[in-house]
Order: sequence, then C-alpha cells, then structure tokens
Amino acid sequence: MSVTIIFGSDGGATRGVASRISKKCQGRSVDIKDATTSDFENCTLLILGSPTYGDGTLQSDWEEHIEKLRTADIKGKRVAIFGTGDQQTYPLSFVDAIGILYEEVSALGAEVVGFTETAGYDYSGSAAERDGKFVGLALDLDTQSSMTEKRVTAWLSQLL
Ligand SMILES: Cc1cc2nc3c(=O)[nH]c(=O)nc-3n(C[C@H](O)[C@H](O)[C@H](O)COP(=O)(O)O)c2cc1C
Repeated sequence: MSVTIIFGSDGGATRGVASRISKKCQGRSVDIKDATTSDFENCTLLILGSPTYGDGTLQSDWEEHIEKLRTADIKGKRVAIFGTGDQQTYPLSFVDAIGILYEEVSALGAEVVGFTETAGYDYSGSAAERDGKFVGLALDLDTQSSMTEKRVTAWLSQLL
C-alpha cells in the first residue's frame, strides 16, 4: 500500500505528526503548499491533516490551496483525516478542520475511513463529529500531548 500524507501547519505541531505518521507507514509527507493535484491521486491511502484556527477554520495554507484538492480525482479512494486542536481554549470548535476536510473529500466521492471515538476528550462542540464519532483522528498536542503516540499508533493499525 502506498500512503501519502498531505498536511498544513502554522506552528509545526501538525507537520510533526505528519512526519511521525509517514515514518510509521513508510509514507510520503507533503506540505499542502508544495503539493500537486497528483499527490492526492497517486496513492492507495490518502491521509490529510490540518490544525483548526480562528474559531473553527482550516489552516490558512489549506484554505489558499484548496483547489488542488477540489480538482483531484479521488472518487472511491480511501481517505483518512487527522486534526490537531486545543480542547481547553477552543471547546466549541475543537478540531473543526477535520469536519471541513471531511465535507470536501466526501463531495468528491472519496471513501472516508478512520473514524474514532470521542471518549477521552473534554470539549463542548466540534464540527468533526458525525453520529457521535469523530470522522478522523483528533489530536490535542496543547493539552493532551502525552496521548498522541498511543492515539496515532491505534489509528494507523485501524487503517493499515
Ligand atoms: C489563533 C488560534 C486559533 C485556534 N483555534 C482553534 C480552534 O478553533 N479549535 C481548535 O481545536 N484549536 C484551535 N487552535 C489550536 C491549534 O489548532 C493547535 O495549537 C494546533 O496544534 C496548531 O497546529 P500547528 O502547530 O500545526 O499549526 C487555535 C490556535 C490559535 C493560535
């Protein structure tokens, strides 16, 4: 299986997670700023990662380069999404970017995989939830950093 991880990151947290994921699955990690449409297409598992900013928006490079995703042919492709956020400071929009990317890839006909349980987090609202689950992997390196490794490992074993 070939895995491509495409991420955006302001402060480096999401970049770090993308590189950890790529090492664990011998994948390629690509910054959305440098990504091409074919990076979305030429893999068997596509993993997208974004932090949430500004009370519930995608990271700015994702916003600026979203057309690369929108023009990609990922119909039927397995796509998994992870997001970084801060549930204590932003409890009403925790990891909203996961939900935004979920809507984008769903509209393109992708098969979204890697839903996770919301237990173990403490927040009030999230656009990443559908039917009581996160539609991807929620990570909080600001307040639950010590859980990241375990969460990433469990998620990848679910995906691979
Ligand atoms: C101005 C600002 C707004 C933020 N808004 C949210 C938010 O709405 N929801 C959330 O879960 N996290 C929010 N965060 C937390 C970041 O998503 C989190 O720190 C993330 O790990 C940053 O990733 P990066 O270092 O890859 O940029 C915000 C952080 C900042 C500085």
